Amino acid sequence: MNLVLMGLPGAGKGTQAEKIVEEYKIPHISTGDMFRAAMSDGTELGLKAKSFMDKGELVPDEVTIGIVRERLAKQDCEKGFLLDGFPRTVAQAEALENILAEIEKKIDYVINIDVDQSVLMERLTGRRICKKCGSTYHLVFNPPSEEGICDRCGGELYQRPDDNKETVKNRLDVNIKQTKPLLDFYESKGYLKNINGQQAIEQVFLDIDSLLKGLV
Ligand code: AP5
Repeated sequence: MNLVLMGLPGAGKGTQAEKIVEEYKIPHISTGDMFRAAMSDGTELGLKAKSFMDKGELVPDEVTIGIVRERLAKQDCEKGFLLDGFPRTVAQAEALENILAEIEKKIDYVINIDVDQSVLMERLTGRRICKKCGSTYHLVFNPPSEEGICDRCGGELYQRPDDNKETVKNRLDVNIKQTKPLLDFYESKGYLKNINGQQAIEQVFLDIDSLLKGLV
């Protein structure tokens, strides 16, 4: 099962990815998470990514493509993968086609979580994430049982530094510009599946799950 999860910032990619990988036991490859891990390890990649992420800009294609190429070559991707937040430009999508051709794989579905732009600011500024296990919450839409504490592991919840109003605005502007050509690219390949992301979190997953049941 080789999947790409697409959607504007805050559409629910990370939230749905947690559920998909739990159900289908495939590795979750989030370029955003990889950059954040590199930043907290203080590596050269992390320093480079930070300067773009802090402003809500995209990390340059050559850097992003390089880390995905390395990750897809790992053994745990042999039985499938879920790419989250990659590709984000047509150049990245073309590079992904080449990488997959080299390892004799093909995308099954590109799942686009479709959400109206007007709800994304509230979703992102209210998001909280567990420091320990990475589970995602929302102060209003998906609150933890105890304020500031993760239901799953008891870890402390924090707010991502790029989830402030100003950076979110730029992230949305940047991503909206890239999305249409990317959707056209995947539509023309016949991979694209649109899912209504403006439903309850569980219902969005049920829709994705019924699509994926057809692949197993
Ligand atoms: P990344 O980490 O990928 O962030 P993003 O794309 O901005 O997406 P988010 O993680 O913010 O949102 P999401 O769709 O996962 O939403 P979530 O499920 O958390 O990228 C960060 C940065 O890294 C980029 O800005 C860029 O600089 C760089 N980068 C990454 N990939 C790159 C690439 N390929 N090329 C270049 N640069 C790259 O949900 C959001 C909130 O809404 C949560 O609080 C959640 O609880 C809530 N929620 C979710 N679903 C629902 C629902 N159905 N109803 C109500 N609330 C919901």
